[in-house]
Amino acid sequence: MRVGILGSGLMGGKLGTIFARAGHEVVFSYARRHEKLKELARDARGNTRAGTPREAAQEADALLLAVHWSRMDDVLSQTGDLSGKVIVSCSLPMNAHNTELVVAHTSSGAEVLAKRVPKARVVSAFNTVPSEVLFGVFEARRRTTRSSLVYCGDDASSKGIAAELIRDVGFDPVDAGPLRIARYTEPFALLVAQLAYERKGGPELAYRFERFGE
Ligand SMILES: NC(=O)c1ccc[n+]([C@@H]2O[C@H](COP(=O)([O-])OP(=O)(O)OC[C@H]3O[C@@H](n4cnc5c(N)ncnc54)[C@H](OP(=O)(O)O)[C@@H]3O)[C@@H](O)[C@H]2O)c1
Repeated sequence: MRVGILGSGLMGGKLGTIFARAGHEVVFSYARRHEKLKELARDARGNTRAGTPREAAQEADALLLAVHWSRMDDVLSQTGDLSGKVIVSCSLPMNAHNTELVVAHTSSGAEVLAKRVPKARVVSAFNTVPSEVLFGVFEARRRTTRSSLVYCGDDASSKGIAAELIRDVGFDPVDAGPLRIARYTEPFALLVAQLAYERKGGPELAYRFERFGE
């Protein structure tokens, strides 16, 4: 597939690199320095390049949205028309200090995004996992017991694409249902992030906590 990365930070940089190593064509976009995007594309060592959000979106089979919630409008204003595009979003609706969800319980970031780009097909995925464990998961992908990763969305074919990307990273994709299920997975993801970043042994602990959920 051709995968456009919108937000090439901790999540976008790692997932884009893994998608490229799994054989997908990847365009890294949206960082403060274009040079960083070029470095990411070079280090990923696959069919990769650096581009603008518009270039990342063009002809993309899937877009990974991996920006801070506060950058959402800015990045979406640069992509051009996203009608019909599959957007796999790992972005959590966090406030500026990353202390609280600004959308929760009666809606979710994923649903707000879907309303913001109503003609796109949004899937919520990857936000329940800390970025630090992603390369380890990819390295262990051929093991018989794989960790599960939940995703949700309203459109069957875009969920199929998200499931394929989740599998390529090394997880077993678990369809959690329609997009509104993000009302439950996003607060869960915040809990996991708090374990990951505020506790000793953080990322490993959070990852094990997810496995415990299995
Ligand atoms: N990190 C995790 O473990 C994790 C886990 C689950 C979910 N998430 C979610 O994933 C999303 C991305 O998180 P992240 O940790 O990957 O964030 P991040 O490392 O800060 O990446 C965000 C990207 O946006 C770019 N950016 C920020 N401001 C910009 C601007 N003014 N102009 C152009 N580019 C700009 C950053 O550029 P630079 O590269 O130049 O800084 C970076 O490439 C968030 O919504 C977060 O809630 C993260």
